[in-house]
Amino acid sequence: MTTELERLQDDYCARRDRQYRRAAGQFFTPRWIAVGMARWVIATNPVAILDPACGLGMLLNACREQGYTGKLVGHELDPELVGRLRDAKDVLGDMEIQQGDFLDMPWEPLPAAIVNPPYNRFQRRELPQRLQLELARMLGVTASGYTNQYALFLYSVVSRLKPGGRAAFIVPSEFLATGYGVQVKEFLMRNGRLEHLVLFDPAIRVFPEAATTACVLLFGASTSETLKVWHLHAERESNIFEDICSEEERQFPDTMLVRSSLDSRANWQGLGKVGADTSRFVNFGTFGSIKRGIATGANEFFVLSDLRAKALGLKSMELVPCIANASSASGFVFDEFHLALLKSLDKPCFLFDGQAAQNESVRRYLEEGERQGYHQRYLTKMRKPWYKLESRRPAPLLLAVFGREGFKVVLNRSCAVNLTAFHGFYPFPEFERLIPLIWLYLQTPTARSIYIEQQRSYGDGLKKLEPGDWTKLKVPDWRAWSEQDIEVGLSWAAEALNADAKFEQTSLNLATQRMNGLLACHWQELAVNTVEPQLSLI
Ligand SMILES: C[S@@+](CC[C@H](N)C(=O)[O-])C[C@H]1O[C@@H](n2cnc3c(N)ncnc32)[C@H](O)[C@@H]1O
Repeated sequence: MTTELERLQDDYCARRDRQYRRAAGQFFTPRWIAVGMARWVIATNPVAILDPACGLGMLLNACREQGYTGKLVGHELDPELVGRLRDAKDVLGDMEIQQGDFLDMPWEPLPAAIVNPPYNRFQRRELPQRLQLELARMLGVTASGYTNQYALFLYSVVSRLKPGGRAAFIVPSEFLATGYGVQVKEFLMRNGRLEHLVLFDPAIRVFPEAATTACVLLFGASTSETLKVWHLHAERESNIFEDICSEEERQFPDTMLVRSSLDSRANWQGLGKVGADTSRFVNFGTFGSIKRGIATGANEFFVLSDLRAKALGLKSMELVPCIANASSASGFVFDEFHLALLKSLDKPCFLFDGQAAQNESVRRYLEEGERQGYHQRYLTKMRKPWYKLESRRPAPLLLAVFGREGFKVVLNRSCAVNLTAFHGFYPFPEFERLIPLIWLYLQTPTARSIYIEQQRSYGDGLKKLEPGDWTKLKVPDWRAWSEQDIEVGLSWAAEALNADAKFEQTSLNLATQRMNGLLACHWQELAVNTVEPQLSLI
């Protein structure tokens, strides 16, 4: 249903020359976007909300419609629009409208802002002296000659936003990928208040009459360590957009990144787009071999708890520490502490090695085994002697055998060998140092999505992961990573691994998010174009 305000806008567009509107950056925000942005901004009930480029007041009006009762302030450069705004007071209600160049306004703190800035290059105009000084102070550099006006609005508004106040922007998403956008991204990273980045599918028009990409930036009341990235299909997913803006997130973002992991030189348009480009990924088997765990053929006989081993009179040299089942290594890491815990809880965690020594206790236990018929089992019958254990070194990575919507990978820092609940990953010597990095990568949502995607493409709901399945899993080609990225990844893994037990999960989440950010940057590499795409009206 067309509202009265939309009718006013249509009337204005019909009467105003298209080229003029284009040069003036006059694209009015679609109502469904305005409603979402308004919800975000009014949530903290600010004393006033500013729209520095208010056009015919779509954004401010949406704040009123959503129940905001405070002061609405709009700036507009175009006197004709200001005149129309004032004439439409009965439609738009109470708003304080100031005519003039917002970029030339006194530099005052702002309680909240809702903005669809003009999209045109500032190189066509002289920059006000005050703004130049402020930008130099804030950015440490003069704004690039390719900087579009919307970047200047972003700097001017966001840097003045008071603590506790929020801001919502809709801008073209090109800056996320282009050379001139590096400066904008650096600003966003330094400022730290960007909480949500909502990217609309570039193939679909958000502004019906303008061929431009669009993204919404939602800035929070204080700085945020993480950035949530959403990819939406424009109006078709307006309900999700509303949920994001109302903080009723019924869905997960496409990715959540730790701010410190972001790279301003990378293309942020692809952040969180899994499957973006795995063409340079390689098989996991490139980095090591994957072997089944030890199959004893008779766990009841070979796998012992500490008390049972003691009762049998077996000595430590006849016992090999082991990870007997999936529940023995239920966390992300298995180390000597976990092994000692299993022992103290009297869980099965030793393998009986009948060949380690010949003594009375061993002989008696072997005779007992034969009496019970364990030597006649399918696997034991084929071994010589029947109680010979498969020879395996402890594997530094344990890979779960069963997985449906994901998989489990455990870093094994103990001397325990694994039985068949896990496969063991044995890196080739030159990749041994990468183990914590590989482990961290395999905990990331990206790794899981690639895995699920790969399983889907096999048309397999997946019950059991054979070593061959793991070998074929696509992973980044760490051979092509710079030493610096490898070191960074290793340091994140080390940080997660050294965390206090209480913070284990939190610090692992942080490390995986950082790793996800690094991966996204690797995918996108540098997309540094120096020429800004042109905006065109249809
Ligand atoms: C993209 S439109 C957005 C209008 C409105 N806020 C909306 O969302 O529908 C940008 C508006 O900013 C105005 N404008 C352009 N440069 C400006 C400036 N330096 N200061 C204030 N307004 C400006 C344009 O005339 C235009 O009406």
